[in-house]
Amino acid sequence: MIALEDVTSRLAAAGFVAAHDEAEELLDCAAGDGAVLASMLERRLRGEPLAWITGFTSFCGVRVRLDPGVYVPRWQSEPLARRAALRLPPKGSAVDLCTGSGAIAMVVQTERPNARVVATDLDEVAVNCAASNGVKVYCGDLFAPLPSGLEGRVDVVVGVVPYVPTKSMSLLPRDTFVFESTLAYDGGDDGAEILRRVIRESTLFLRAGGALILELGGDEAEILQSDLLTRGFTDVNLMVDDDGDVRGLDATFDA
Ligand SMILES: C[S@@+](CC[C@H](N)C(=O)[O-])C[C@H]1O[C@@H](n2cnc3c(N)ncnc32)[C@H](O)[C@@H]1O
Repeated sequence: MIALEDVTSRLAAAGFVAAHDEAEELLDCAAGDGAVLASMLERRLRGEPLAWITGFTSFCGVRVRLDPGVYVPRWQSEPLARRAALRLPPKGSAVDLCTGSGAIAMVVQTERPNARVVATDLDEVAVNCAASNGVKVYCGDLFAPLPSGLEGRVDVVVGVVPYVPTKSMSLLPRDTFVFESTLAYDGGDDGAEILRRVIRESTLFLRAGGALILELGGDEAEILQSDLLTRGFTDVNLMVDDDGDVRGLDATFDA
């Protein structure tokens, strides 16, 4: 069995900044099996996401099961999930679009246990993963697979949908390309193609006064201003991170 210090130094030598923490996680997960630990370490050294190897990650303090191939939720999306929970009445309804592992839906449901929280994703592997996390999830394109009974009744639509401009995809970290699907990232020419569709299609499901909460980047909030106004959204608040970068928006549907 490789010792903690050896795992740490191999990870550190390969440039992993949180080498010690990761080594501890791998050892925990291997539960004393030397062969399992060696294989996990090799996978990590090849750049595979840690959460795919251990099978779990933490998001807003919630333990999320992760299957290989499923987008690993980022801590940068945590404020979005919390905002969605805040805007959801205790017995309201929420939709988490492009749910991946279901992490955002899980946080919202944890914060609002009596609410109805449903989710969708196009990727069957993600759908199965979200279902294994206890999320009520439908497989299909954006709103298409949702029950029609939700039309006009949803209090919150939240989503970390793909929003990387196609031409910027090559700037993503190397491991993103090698291991993750472009389906999770590619937002079309200006990055806002799917966001625009979400704005348009959400008006069928949101109730008057309901909230649309979306992660985005770059100048996408500006690009989307006119779409939001045209579709009846008011009170558009931008969510800004500690570096002053716009990371999301929260808008109210006025019908
Ligand atoms: C960036 S990931 C976000 C996952 C999750 N919300 C999170 O934050 O961990 C985007 C997800 O959108 C899904 N996706 C891409 N296009 C979609 C579409 N048109 N309809 C539904 N899901 C889609 C991908 O399969 C992927 O799981």
